[in-house]
Amino acid sequence: MSGWPKPAEGSWTQHYPDLGTGPISFEDSVSPEFYELEREAIFRRAWLNVGRIEQLPRTGSYFTKEIRIARTSVIVVRDGDGTVRAFHNICRHRGNKLVWNDFPNEEVSGTCRQFTCKYHGWRYGLDGALNFVQQEGEFFDLDKDSTGLAPVHCEVWAGFVFVNLDREPRQTLREFLGPMITALEGYPFDRMTEWYEFSADNRSNWKLFADAFQEYYHVPALHTQQVPAAVRRPENGFTCAHFQLDGPHRVTSTAGPRRWTLAPEYMYPIERVTRSGLVGPWQSPELDVAMPPGLNPGKVEPWGIDNFQIFPNIEILIYRGWYLLYRYWPTSHNTHHFEGMLCYQPARTVRERVEHEVSSVVFKEFALQDAGMLTGTQTALESAYATAGITEYPVGDQEILVRHFHKTVADWVDAYRAERTGVRA
Ligand code: FES
Ligand SMILES: [Fe+2]
Repeated sequence: MSGWPKPAEGSWTQHYPDLGTGPISFEDSVSPEFYELEREAIFRRAWLNVGRIEQLPRTGSYFTKEIRIARTSVIVVRDGDGTVRAFHNICRHRGNKLVWNDFPNEEVSGTCRQFTCKYHGWRYGLDGALNFVQQEGEFFDLDKDSTGLAPVHCEVWAGFVFVNLDREPRQTLREFLGPMITALEGYPFDRMTEWYEFSADNRSNWKLFADAFQEYYHVPALHTQQVPAAVRRPENGFTCAHFQLDGPHRVTSTAGPRRWTLAPEYMYPIERVTRSGLVGPWQSPELDVAMPPGLNPGKVEPWGIDNFQIFPNIEILIYRGWYLLYRYWPTSHNTHHFEGMLCYQPARTVRERVEHEVSSVVFKEFALQDAGMLTGTQTALESAYATAGITEYPVGDQEILVRHFHKTVADWVDAYRAERTGVRA
């Protein structure tokens, strides 16, 4: 899988001259001070995907999202008009966390007619209005109309629910997503409702795990097990067929023969038996809708996978008839919470269900190979900066998205610093 043509400039990286070609620093992934800046500069400014519309099927459906880096918890709810709204998860009486079940810091979901605070029983409607105050007569000049839940900006695109924690978002969600991402509109995400969800608390900076999923350069070395031992050729490498950048967002597409067209010895017996594996079910039900223009933007043939990374912390991998979603939620400068979700069209037969189960289990195995390495990367990077005096790292053309991601993070942090101090850093 090599030999895919590169842009006229000679490399994907040089096609985007702002990126430069020099070594890059990962100090942004080991510095507690930098993490403090990311709170405001990125996670309180960018639109953040917190869920899918299918999680809110009816009036009163809600879920909560813990966004620790922004020091908040958000309630997302479908109100009586069908509007999806978001609020800070804070009771306006004495500041208790409003929606939670057994443990205050765990995310919850459900359906309700109103939100009732566990502490003194104040009640809020699905539109956030304060509807009931226990012993209201005991209060002084309490204006219920101005004591509703504090709203969070919330918009939905293609069924993805986004929030923005800025007081006044600088861009609408569509503006923020830009033409490369919004060109995916029309892809039938809404049909892929059979979900397999995984989450993990990883000991690395959030960006380092995103890096492991935005280049395929590591695949022959780290994921040697993707093919049986007899046919492994790690020295062959792996080359992506297309890379594209648009504002803070990125995509890469892979190409190559479909796995099931390879010779039988390239497959594990379970793949041959179940017709499913690392790249999902071999035969997803045909989609009878035209694919949107944003899919396979490089017009790669034969097309494999599109891997879209929406800044800052979401990744959507589209495999024609199903998709994978990753989110990386920072919890400290060297830890994060990872969410992975595999979304298939609902199984119509037992065989299809087995295909989905096999694909999701195989995914978990390969994700564990990436995750298992992370602690090593994090601890070594920390010692590199603290003691070894290694501060810069070479990044190849196949890793252009890693380069772009860290540059984008640095640009957003610089912009924030400049606004705060009036001087560009
Ligand atoms: S803190 Fe919520 S009702 Fe008192
Ligand atoms: Fe990997």
